[in-house]
Amino acid sequence: MSLLKGTRITWLGHATVLIQTARGTNILIDPFIAQNPKYPRDFVLPETIHYILLTHGHGDHISDAVPVARKHGSTVVAIYELAAYVEGKGVAKTIGMNLGGTVQLEEVAVTMVDAKHSSGAQDEVGTHYVGVAAGFVLAVAEGPVLYHSGDTAVFGDMKLIRELYEPEVAMLPIGGHFTMGPKEAALAVRLLGSKKVLPLHFGTFPPLQGTPDELAKLIGPGVEIVKWSPGETVSETSEYELTGKSDSLRG
Ligand code: NI
Ligand code: MN
Repeated sequence: MSLLKGTRITWLGHATVLIQTARGTNILIDPFIAQNPKYPRDFVLPETIHYILLTHGHGDHISDAVPVARKHGSTVVAIYELAAYVEGKGVAKTIGMNLGGTVQLEEVAVTMVDAKHSSGAQDEVGTHYVGVAAGFVLAVAEGPVLYHSGDTAVFGDMKLIRELYEPEVAMLPIGGHFTMGPKEAALAVRLLGSKKVLPLHFGTFPPLQGTPDELAKLIGPGVEIVKWSPGETVSETSEYELTGKSDSLRG
């Protein structure tokens, strides 16, 4: 039984996720690399990253968007103002979109959906308005429907995301403090109806205290909470495939 149908999802720590479809489209969400204390340093990014998706303007989600886009030839996809902001910082190819809209990225239909969070981009000059925070639904043709919520609180309209897109796999923040924690994420999972949950945005810094175990306890059987570590890939062939250094699944 597989929900992923050949799509591979690799967690690179915090909210940074690499999605590789069966047809070979590489999508990186919220690249936070150089300053990310949990980034798996021995992980090698694919030579070409076709698209970078940004959920909002905070540094722990966009700080490596420009260097990665330049090095890996990526088009950056973000809410209109944030796309313009990174273009001003030196990204050659961007797609600006907005809430409720869908863009077709190769065989992946990407829809921008609500999130409840702030969004401002800070640089040496100050804080810039770069639109509102958002999440993404990625519907892979002949593949799964994935949801990356970005930073968010739980909100009632997650039930609209379920009704419209039926995401089978949900990537959700669970750390608390800046986003929802396990209690709120458990309700989010119920509203979304997803069968597989990939927890994000926990353990990176001391205030992000929520854990996958707490979430699993609150949700109970019937939904798989993946207990992964940065550098690990979830794919069709194995629940966890070690691509980086990790001891969590050995022995
Ligand atoms: Ni944030
Ligand atoms: Mn964040």
